[in-house]
Amino acid sequence: MIIIGCSRGKHIAGKIAKKLNKPYSELNAKRFPDGEIYVRFMKNVKGKDVVLVQSFYGYINDCVVEAIFAAETARELGAKSVTLVAPYFAYLRQDSRFNPGECISIKVIGKLFSRYFDKIIVIDPHLHRQTKLKDLFSTKIDKLTTNPYIADYIKKNIKNPLIVGPDWESYKWAQRVAEKIGYPFVILNKKRLSGRKVKITINKKIDIGNKNIVFVDDIISTGHTILEAAKKLKRLGAEKFCCIAVHGLFVEHALEKLRKAKINVITTNTIPNKVSKIDVSGLVAEKLSNKRV
Ligand code: R5P
Repeated sequence: MIIIGCSRGKHIAGKIAKKLNKPYSELNAKRFPDGEIYVRFMKNVKGKDVVLVQSFYGYINDCVVEAIFAAETARELGAKSVTLVAPYFAYLRQDSRFNPGECISIKVIGKLFSRYFDKIIVIDPHLHRQTKLKDLFSTKIDKLTTNPYIADYIKKNIKNPLIVGPDWESYKWAQRVAEKIGYPFVILNKKRLSGRKVKITINKKIDIGNKNIVFVDDIISTGHTILEAAKKLKRLGAEKFCCIAVHGLFVEHALEKLRKAKINVITTNTIPNKVSKIDVSGLVAEKLSNKRV
């Protein structure tokens, strides 16, 4: 097996290789001035189980092209198998035709990647209306969850927490993490009004006391979900806030906005950022060591 760090996977790929005690190499990936993508393997992959590690954030479309170019090249160079580890996998949120004529991105991505990879491993994918990745991908696909890591972080670092899921979908993280460590939790309601606007409502009595509010969610993108939820809870007397998310995308200065609102934010390192303090490379290493790729 050889672990290859793609341009958006290097931050975690080396750690995975180290934990597995397997050879590691970085993919040489460049963007030409006109926007075309160039990739080159710097180590021999012939006869090897090649594991490409790529998160899909920033220039997402470049990440997609790079991963597909790398997979096809690995095969041409004689790789025995090609696996994709996607700590953060994109294009999963457009999972329905909300308006006539729209592309259901998740379906296209599923078909496309199934053609190039023998196996795909994703961490905490954003699955709402489409719930089974196996219905969307015809190749082998495994999903991992960082919940045990988040639970462990809360247990070790936060006293007297009230775990809060900002919307019903977040139960998969907030409720499950809370139940794992036996802490109280509450799930709020969210209505998304636009990409940057959400409305949070609370329809039950919440006993805040002097608890530390700990939001747990899968993604922080613009940060508005957490900002709005914090505003609502402040009105109920909450004073101390923390937010733990799996994937910190932090677009449009979200991290700065959250910090300004005195919300202490921590994420896992599926996407590298200033607060990606929870290292989940062990989760992937464990999976890769379990089964033959
Ligand atoms: C939505 O269902 C997700 O779980 C997150 O709550 C959402 O992606 C966060 O987006 P934003 O930070 O832009 O409010």
